[in-house]
Amino acid sequence: MKDILLIGQTLRFTADPFTVPLEDAAKTSARGAVLVRDGKIAQTGEAADLQRENPLAEVIDNGDHVITAGFVDAHMHFPQTAMIASWGLRLIDWLNTYTFPEEMRFADPTYCDKIADRSLDLALSHGTTTLTSFCTIHPASVDAFFSAAAKRNMAVVAGKTCMDRNAPDGLQDTALTAYDDSKALLNKWHGKGRATYAITPRFSPTSTPDQLDALGALWGEFPDAMMQTHLSEQLDEIEWVRGLFPDAKDYLDTYETFGLLGERGLYGHAIHLEGREIDRLAEMNAAVVHCPTSNTFIGSGLFDMAGLKSRGIRTGLATDTGGGSSFSMLRTMAAAYEIAQLRGTALHPAQLMWLASEGSASALHMSGEIGSLNVGAVADIVVLDLSSTPAIAQRTAEAETFWEALFPTIMMGDDRAIAQVYLAGKPV
Ligand code: GUN
Ligand code: ZN
Repeated sequence: MKDILLIGQTLRFTADPFTVPLEDAAKTSARGAVLVRDGKIAQTGEAADLQRENPLAEVIDNGDHVITAGFVDAHMHFPQTAMIASWGLRLIDWLNTYTFPEEMRFADPTYCDKIADRSLDLALSHGTTTLTSFCTIHPASVDAFFSAAAKRNMAVVAGKTCMDRNAPDGLQDTALTAYDDSKALLNKWHGKGRATYAITPRFSPTSTPDQLDALGALWGEFPDAMMQTHLSEQLDEIEWVRGLFPDAKDYLDTYETFGLLGERGLYGHAIHLEGREIDRLAEMNAAVVHCPTSNTFIGSGLFDMAGLKSRGIRTGLATDTGGGSSFSMLRTMAAAYEIAQLRGTALHPAQLMWLASEGSASALHMSGEIGSLNVGAVADIVVLDLSSTPAIAQRTAEAETFWEALFPTIMMGDDRAIAQVYLAGKPV
């Protein structure tokens, strides 16, 4: 395969801009270049230098567009694609009224395939190159998602959602079938191509202690698998958990007791945490995932980005489709900005872009492999048009710095801002 030289404005990170000064953490160039060789980033630098050094490479000049790492969505529910933006309810009623009936439709493998294709295509059209997804209790939904991702050569993380109580008949497994099905799917998909398996108890209210125990044992057998679940999203959910697990110290303890707290654990939402929970997440080097459009849409609360980052807790960013109200990681960054503002912190555009790429990749233990424009990373790339609508263009035209030019696209952009997407160096 011929080398490709992408030229444009470039943005890459060499460190976390939450902990390292911006000038050291983010590298931008007004006329930069990225050399793609065999599906990976082979070189980065100034366009003039890379052109001189690689005279045989095919040059793709993107003008003023921004070339950066494809977005990494660290928590979503592909089966909720067709019910996004369902009106009027908070978490528990929203699950019972909209979510569970929609997830029942995945008993039909044809529907699984249709929605898996749809969700991955929507993600790509929004510049997202990696999805981390809950599937449904049906193994066919997991096969559909991983197969659809393999067809597109997308790196994805996913697993069978396990529930053995507080869900409708037809949407429940058991402790034993959850263990057996998850194990079979893990053996089938984990590490195959770009697939990573995540053991997936939906959340404590829909798993009995027996099921949590079985899934904790499975994770013990496969410690390099991920584990994903939900944590402390809404106050009445937390009350419910307290009633269901009267002996637990807190919500996080309902996972830790059963071997479901670890450094490959992804804890979605993590809004209303107690001090002990934050301490344990930090001590265990577990990752939390911020889902800002979901947190405002379902009315969950204001995630404490500054507080959790200051504790060194690895943090990813996610759409949480369809509790989240957008497929766009640009819109998701905008919502993260707004939530942080409501908590008194203005996140810098570099921090937002880092969360949507490197931050999520770090949560997934895929740093250096995805979400990065550094040498050696897989060339999953997004090219952003900073003038994608008249409203954005007139603001960008006034900008004096790279960040001032990028921020309107973060705040106001959508799929129209996605000029091109590459998966492992191939245009989508
Ligand atoms: N908690 C348990 N299941 C879900 C879900 O599907 N979406 C959200 N936002 N929270 C959950
Ligand atoms: Zn979720």
